[in-house]
Amino acid sequence: MPAPAFLLPSHPLDPRRVDPQFAWEARLLRDLGGEQHLVDHDALLAGDAHAAVHRVPAGRGPFWYRGWMLPSPRYTDFAAALAERGGQLLTSPPGYASAHELPGWYEVFEGATPQSVWLPVPDAGTGAGAGTVGAGTVGAERLAPAVARLGGQGPAIVKDYVKSRKDEWDEACYIPELADLPAVERVVARFVELQAEHLAGGVVLRRFEEFTRVGWDARGPASPSDDGSEGAADGNRDTGRDGRRRAVEARAWWLDGEPVLVGPHPDLPGCPVSPDLSVVRPLVRALGCRFVTTDLAERADGSGWRVVEVGDGQVSELPRGIDPSGLLIALLAA
Ligand SMILES: Nc1ncnc2c1ncn2[C@@H]1O[C@H](COP(=O)(O)OP(=O)(O)OP(=O)(O)O)[C@@H](O)[C@H]1O
Ligand SMILES: [Mg+2]
Repeated sequence: MPAPAFLLPSHPLDPRRVDPQFAWEARLLRDLGGEQHLVDHDALLAGDAHAAVHRVPAGRGPFWYRGWMLPSPRYTDFAAALAERGGQLLTSPPGYASAHELPGWYEVFEGATPQSVWLPVPDAGTGAGAGTVGAGTVGAERLAPAVARLGGQGPAIVKDYVKSRKDEWDEACYIPELADLPAVERVVARFVELQAEHLAGGVVLRRFEEFTRVGWDARGPASPSDDGSEGAADGNRDTGRDGRRRAVEARAWWLDGEPVLVGPHPDLPGCPVSPDLSVVRPLVRALGCRFVTTDLAERADGSGWRVVEVGDGQVSELPRGIDPSGLLIALLAA
């Protein structure tokens, strides 16, 4: 079998150039001798997968994709359009959905990740062009039993199967107390409203856990302490979306069950991290997807590392300042 080729998104205004966001990966790949072709992300999102892959040579493959997130149904179309041209993505559509959406990976990681429940929302996650989901779709009558399954009290966070609204932390992400059902309903409704047509799959509620926090931005640490104190003393530094110091997260990149790159989460570029991967390793293997990422945070009491989320490695963001050559070399050899 030939070495895998890479598929990268093209520039939105010039289909012959790579999307500027992926230009440095494309350069690195070229330097490493990797073959690459461009796909039209907007066409993929719009459901026109055939047009999206028309620049990909027929009969070529296997492929790794490195690009923007795609809703799972659009990834399925992508794979089918390539297959019609004799090409094959190394991550199958079911494999993509397993790693990309929380309900796909949760059972395998249960116990190692914050306790979570989810409520599917019909018509969510079909991608651009889908109708906006009404904020009342997930009302008190559906939330009350979900809250009860989460233990009925304590803080929580809301997200969809893929993303949160972490930048609107107080309004649409953090739930201070699950026992306050009107407040739960309010935060969830705002979350659904803001996600609009981008709501992926449904609504997830997760018990909030205290993680080690740090003041950090691209210039480095604001202060070395991890006491979770309010961030006002950090002045105009980014002290985290909840007005406190942000959780230190590491992102581990796994290929065939081995961690091939470990670094900070893209929100904390340059932040030194050294997560303990011993608990996660067998879980990644059990998931059975070849190329995935795990975001890990350390419990504030020092009692171990937790999986904040799992992702498909093809659409996980690389932090600035990291050298992904080792990862790309491993992918080219896979
Ligand atoms: N159960 C939890 N307890 C405490 N903090 C959490 C929990 N789940 C998520 N967070 C924090 O909330 C923020 C968003 O969480 P999450 O990573 O799940 O969302 P996201 O939108 O997918 O983010 P990204 O894809 O950028 O990593 C992160 O800062 C994370 O540390
Ligand atoms: Mg995350």
